[in-house]
Amino acid sequence: MRRLDQLLSSLGYCSRKEARAWCGAGRVREGDAVRADAGARVDPTRVTVDGLPLEFPSGLTVLFHKPVGLVCSHDPRDGRRVYDALPARWLLRTPRVTSVGRLDKDTSGLLVITDDGALVQRLTSPRHHVDKVYEAVLDLDVPPALVERFADGIELHEDGQVEKTRPARLQLLEPRRVELTLREGRYHQVRRMFAACGLTVTALHRTRFGPWSLEGLPPGAWAEVSA
Ligand code: URA
Repeated sequence: MRRLDQLLSSLGYCSRKEARAWCGAGRVREGDAVRADAGARVDPTRVTVDGLPLEFPSGLTVLFHKPVGLVCSHDPRDGRRVYDALPARWLLRTPRVTSVGRLDKDTSGLLVITDDGALVQRLTSPRHHVDKVYEAVLDLDVPPALVERFADGIELHEDGQVEKTRPARLQLLEPRRVELTLREGRYHQVRRMFAACGLTVTALHRTRFGPWSLEGLPPGAWAEVSA
């Protein structure tokens, strides 16, 4: 049970003050009963505003097919954000809605978006071995020997130190097209792994994240999932 004014403001509907006005005007119901008192405690899953059920009253986790050109930043100064492609109300929710890890502006594909901090922890911690699968196009033919090098780990320079990546599974699909499965998520990791081997990634797309795939989700579309 949640206090109605807190509930509506945390889901991005209105301020707590506005909630008092909305309730007073009879716009808010719990089941069939009008809730005129914004301080009432209610079951979020039974509340309606103007006859419509609340959106994601118990938490929000969706898959988003990120098109190229959007940034995974909350700062509008960084460019057009993935959040700008999603319902505006989501940006007003607390806890904050965020992407699980980031995809580069030039990368397309599967992005998990959630307000569940524990889920973010679980999906990003290397201890949990969550597979992330990418398709990459390279500027040159990929030498078959790279399969073993990626399985062994690639040395990347990070903060003045050299760190080896965890074993990664590389499959050659075409001379210049590969599928790569990672279990970690370092900054620009795919591009840097190939760069360390003398190749440039010219297109990058994430097809899977843990149990989820992009199946049936066109670019720019999102779909709710149970986390
Ligand atoms: N690795 C990259 O280099 N870029 C991404 O967007 C994701 C993984």
